[in-house]
Amino acid sequence: MPEAEAQNRDASPVGSPTFAFDHHSPEFAQDPVDSLRVLQARCPVARSDQHGGFWVLSRYDDVKRAAADPALFSSALRPDGSRTLHIPRDGDGVRRPPLEVDPPGFVAFRRIVEPMLSPRAVAAMVDGIGRYVDYFLDLQVPAGEMELMKGLATPLPTTVTLDWLGLDPKDWRTYSEAFELMNLAVPGSPELALGRDAMRDLTEVLREEIGARREQPRSDVLSAIANAVVDGERVAAELAIGMTMLVLAGGVSTTADVMAHAVIYLDQHRDVHGELIEDDQLMRTATEEFIRHVTPVTTIGRMATEPCTFASSAIAAGDSVLLAWIGANHDPDAFEDPDETDLRRWPNRHLGFGLGPHRCVGSNLARAMFRAGVRGLLQRIPDFRVVDSEAPTDRSTHNGFVRVNLEFTPTALSGGGGERPDPQFQDWAGRFPGRQAPPPPG
Ligand code: HEM
Repeated sequence: MPEAEAQNRDASPVGSPTFAFDHHSPEFAQDPVDSLRVLQARCPVARSDQHGGFWVLSRYDDVKRAAADPALFSSALRPDGSRTLHIPRDGDGVRRPPLEVDPPGFVAFRRIVEPMLSPRAVAAMVDGIGRYVDYFLDLQVPAGEMELMKGLATPLPTTVTLDWLGLDPKDWRTYSEAFELMNLAVPGSPELALGRDAMRDLTEVLREEIGARREQPRSDVLSAIANAVVDGERVAAELAIGMTMLVLAGGVSTTADVMAHAVIYLDQHRDVHGELIEDDQLMRTATEEFIRHVTPVTTIGRMATEPCTFASSAIAAGDSVLLAWIGANHDPDAFEDPDETDLRRWPNRHLGFGLGPHRCVGSNLARAMFRAGVRGLLQRIPDFRVVDSEAPTDRSTHNGFVRVNLEFTPTALSGGGGERPDPQFQDWAGRFPGRQAPPPPG
């Protein structure tokens, strides 16, 4: 963030200093924690003059308080249809429940998918997730080199989520390329326009898939979403599309990003590999710590619904407010040595999955995919080395990588097979066996 403080502007309701803080800037992309620490130290509830003006909450207690109070800090679409989650405002008018619906209405939407992402439901998916890990590693391990993002970190959550929904995992590239474009695209960039086109195409695909399931429900999660009954009526097709898009987009790059950071850390900390494989408890605390430290969703927006005072700053109704999850997760008042990665940190009340009513509904699945991916890498290519990696110089609100190249000694295929699987999934035997059939629609 540029050091210079700008003059107070009319947009600033009281005499709060105004900063040129921009979460889409190359400075933020390079070091989001450092950018926010400047604010935390000088003005914890800061006013930025960028993107039409917005507030930045970066301390743990402030972010927590705002996230837990959806009546005051709304995540629903604004009256003009723009997204409160995005600063600067944008939007295609497609509402994405449950996140873009405020309580109490959001509860009905959240209940559609919550049971199918519960710890129990995810436990039933663990073997299936392991098969995907093996599948993607089998494509790479004979070569002795792989690019992690395209080889495992992105395809794993994409295929698993598609499979869980009841969509064809063979189509994973179409989905993951669209999400990648959207996550890396900063406002006004050519990537954003491309990303929007790709999302429009995906919306049409989902419209067809959902339409087919409204005519003839199947035994899959997408049919449960397509035919869910909210307030006594079947949910509108547009809302079902928005919800499916959120579930897909919410879990792919986030899980991929945390896996990439973890692999880079593990390349430099080889002494913990054995323990992580052997000790499930350590793997669990390490998972939380990687999510805290990385905070894949660095920031997200809200809109103040009424005037309020926050740390002596007067926020006006309708103001945009940025919740800096990553600032909260590195707040020294909340975490001892917050910039250290302590794989045994416990308790670890991080905000990497958010907090309050909209706290991540996919957290159990995210953890399971992350653990399976990391364990697979440690077990199957134990001598991997990160030969180079590239983080985007510009990025939107995701803390990720575009490329992480690994080299390792070629190892055997899973199950002692002699041939690599077909990269187009033609030989993929199928979906999660024993996948939980969702409750009948209605
Ligand atoms: C490491 C991986 C993940 C991270 C870091 C993450 C992060 C988050 C965060 C920070 C929120 C809160 C957003 C807010 O309050 O504005 C959220 C909500 C959400 N996430 Fe995740 N997520 C991850 C994985 C997943 C997965 C795998 C899925 C789906 C299978 C998913 C689906 C959702 C949905 C649907 C919401 C909205 C929940 C609601 O409004 O009630 N996420 N996530």
